[in-house]
Amino acid sequence: MSLARHIDPDELVQRIHDANLTEGSQSIRSHMAVSHLTPYSSQYATRVNVPKYKLPEEGAPADAVYELLRDELDLDGKPNLNLASFVGTYMEDKARQLIIENLAKNLSDNDEYPAMMAIHERCISIIAHMWGVQKGEKAVGSATTGSSEAIHLGGLAMKRRWQEKRNAEGKDASKPNIIMGANAQVALEKFARYFDVEARILPVSHESHYRLNPELVKQNIDENTIGVFVILGSTYTGHYEPVEEISKILDEFQERTGHDIPIHVDAASGGFVAPFTHAGVGGPKWNFELPRVKSINTSGHKFGLVYAGVGWIIWRDESFLPKHLIFELHYLGGTEQSFTLNFSRPGAQVIGQYYNLIHLGFNGFREVMENCLRNARVLSKSLEATGWYTCVSDIHRPVEKPAAGATSVLKDAKQKLLGGDDEETSANYIAGLPVVSFRFSDKFKAEYPHIKQEPVSLLMRARQWIIPNYALPPNEDKTEILRVVVRETMSFDLLDRLISDLVTVTQTLMENDAVDLDILQGSKAPGMTNPIKDHDKKKHPHHGTKHKGPRLADGIHRAVC
Ligand SMILES: Cc1ncc(COP(=O)(O)O)c(C=O)c1O
Repeated sequence: MSLARHIDPDELVQRIHDANLTEGSQSIRSHMAVSHLTPYSSQYATRVNVPKYKLPEEGAPADAVYELLRDELDLDGKPNLNLASFVGTYMEDKARQLIIENLAKNLSDNDEYPAMMAIHERCISIIAHMWGVQKGEKAVGSATTGSSEAIHLGGLAMKRRWQEKRNAEGKDASKPNIIMGANAQVALEKFARYFDVEARILPVSHESHYRLNPELVKQNIDENTIGVFVILGSTYTGHYEPVEEISKILDEFQERTGHDIPIHVDAASGGFVAPFTHAGVGGPKWNFELPRVKSINTSGHKFGLVYAGVGWIIWRDESFLPKHLIFELHYLGGTEQSFTLNFSRPGAQVIGQYYNLIHLGFNGFREVMENCLRNARVLSKSLEATGWYTCVSDIHRPVEKPAAGATSVLKDAKQKLLGGDDEETSANYIAGLPVVSFRFSDKFKAEYPHIKQEPVSLLMRARQWIIPNYALPPNEDKTEILRVVVRETMSFDLLDRLISDLVTVTQTLMENDAVDLDILQGSKAPGMTNPIKDHDKKKHPHHGTKHKGPRLADGIHRAVC
């Protein structure tokens, strides 16, 4: 029987499976297959029917279930080749060992795990110092499950502080708004939607480097603005938003109107990059050195180099965390002060974070981040050297004048750590995350108008690389970008393979005519949808004007992450 389209593959598999289970001695599998001597157990070998979507009546042997799941999970992409993600996919053996040994610990069990709680406290203190907390300030913070939870907590504190002030002044506190760029990661918009704050999503443009435009911030703030979300490391292109410039605009606004608008920095990725690269040695300020920055979040599981499951939120001083939001919990014998959305959560990642902090130290982190940035520059320059691609990210473009002293500080550090007399450091280049966002060059598009970008992503996937093809944020969404996040694990050798595969794939596309490509271009790999293309454009109406009326569209939101 040949496979025809009308056949339901699930039904077909079920029939073969049922036959195999009832064939008895005719079965190609042995009855004894469950024995511990069997080298390989499987659903068929065990003769156990494991339903996929309903709880089985009886369980199945552990080794069979293990094989079953492991085999199915082979269908996943390889984390190391998942260049779409900012999230770490590697930890050193000793860190992994510590994590496994502490997997059973719940971060909310203060009383039971005092050593883990002390480690949590030390992480807060180290990160607060890393972000320039000032003398005399009492920084407070918490581990979270990631940046999303941390952003929601930062936003909630700003909303509550604004409400308390408005209520104390006898003013209307029913129409809070928050400012962010259209490049904001979905977590920022989620905060606005989940916590009833009007999101003023300001358009980004080529001129603003696809990030929040300070001029538009000036035009859109008012007495109801609870704060500005400024992103250190745009998810789309890795650009740092100009925190210092926006801070100055808010200073001027306060002088003029008396309204004190705080900044929350979403440093999901940049929180563990900027302190160690050129922003840490005289580049524009972005952290608690700016008095207006009241809270910062980061993802420990991104450039904090921990496996998925840990983020951090820190307020520069306890006075910026309204008491009303803190819960005193009496739990299992102890008293815990809590300001998180989740109660139980894994504690092992916090231990992994502390391991990284004290194992790598400042110089170790600097070495990792400088390496990532250097590899990202190699990738960017190689892509542009083909003439087929143009980078939308800018971290490979030299700055005219590096911040005073920055080059020598980083160069000295690098020579000490890596040896050699390589002149280049991140200080010679535009600041940003080690992210390479690229598109077909205008010349390539003119020469090969029938080639679309998405097949590059699809063909790379066939070679196991995962490189998404996204549209830029609304307003610029006619431009699609391919994006590679250069993480610690992107070694120079791997980079070499990546570049050569990108060249081969592009050549393959160039060698095919429009008819052949139509087949490819009409299809999409599973799960590879263009997240922004169908975006409801009504959602981003703030084209430089003061706005009126509702800001959030109803319905499904698509975003880049
Ligand atoms: C700028 C930015 N903010 C927030 C997030 C959400 O972070 P998390 O996945 O840790 O919740 C991301 C994730 O990519 C991000 O890039």
